[in-house]
Amino acid sequence: TVSNKMCKPSVYITREINKEALDILNEHCEVTSWTGLDPVPRDELLEKIENKNALFCMLTDVIDSKVLDKAGQNLQIIATMSVGYDHLEIQEIKKRNIKISYTPDILTDATAELAVALLLTTSRRLLEANEAAKKGEWKAWSPFWMCGPGLQNSTVGIVGFGRIGQEIAKRLKAFNPKDIIYYNRSEKVEEAKQMDAKKVSFDQLLTESDFISVSCSLTSETMNLFNAAAFKKMKSTAVFVNTSRGGVVDQDALINALENKTIWGAGLDVMTPEPLPLDNPLLKLKNCVVLPHIGSACIETRQNMAILCAKNIIAALKGEQMPSELII
Ligand code: DGY
Repeated sequence: TVSNKMCKPSVYITREINKEALDILNEHCEVTSWTGLDPVPRDELLEKIENKNALFCMLTDVIDSKVLDKAGQNLQIIATMSVGYDHLEIQEIKKRNIKISYTPDILTDATAELAVALLLTTSRRLLEANEAAKKGEWKAWSPFWMCGPGLQNSTVGIVGFGRIGQEIAKRLKAFNPKDIIYYNRSEKVEEAKQMDAKKVSFDQLLTESDFISVSCSLTSETMNLFNAAAFKKMKSTAVFVNTSRGGVVDQDALINALENKTIWGAGLDVMTPEPLPLDNPLLKLKNCVVLPHIGSACIETRQNMAILCAKNIIAALKGEQMPSELII
């Protein structure tokens, strides 16, 4: 009925999403969406968020006090379609008693898979080799052409041994490294058993690893964790892979380390800023592989992430327990 319709809570979605997720929301809510291909412009978000009950957002949307003030008293839930939440001003959101949900677990496998793919692409120089084949630089099979470091008998270092870090370690174990070591705030005794991984200090991880894969979240503690001093401590043969957030790396220091061969190479799915401007030196370096933040970009994974967001919103609006509330 009309009156029923008028009572429906309102949701603003900052991107086009899959039908399945949209259907869940449409059943209970009045939905408005930004349908542009690019992220919603800030002005548009500030205008559309007014009086909404729920916000379905992406990691490209900065949700700060300005957005929250614009939203006003009615906003009950912010559901981000990501596991990372460094784009949300958590303290400001909490102050206003707004609930937050995110999408952990369901993207773990997809992201770990991408991290392994990126590591191998970097170490085995797949893009460089493909480029050479296309350009006619493949003259003949050649004993040491396009060689790179192998995982067998290597030391793999995982920074951030949470759900994703553990899955990366599990997959890399299949390549027969000598050791898997990790750096994490807390020790993960049980989880580490499966891949025989041992916790070490950050410095030890830097100096001993042949491969370093970063999967920690971006916090005030991990911001610029990989600075010039850190790159200096790494082996000159080290391969550095980052699938977490660009902010954990001092990017100028990384560029220097790659240019000066302080380290062997880097594979990056995340950087600062995103998208990376075309004139950024990282895009010109042969020993750097740059991907456009596609860690979780498996079709089904992304669909499930949107569905989970929709379910979180409905649960929050009904005052029920959300499937994946962010509690910090
Ligand atoms: C996340 O979810 O935070 C990833 O960076 C993208 O899926």
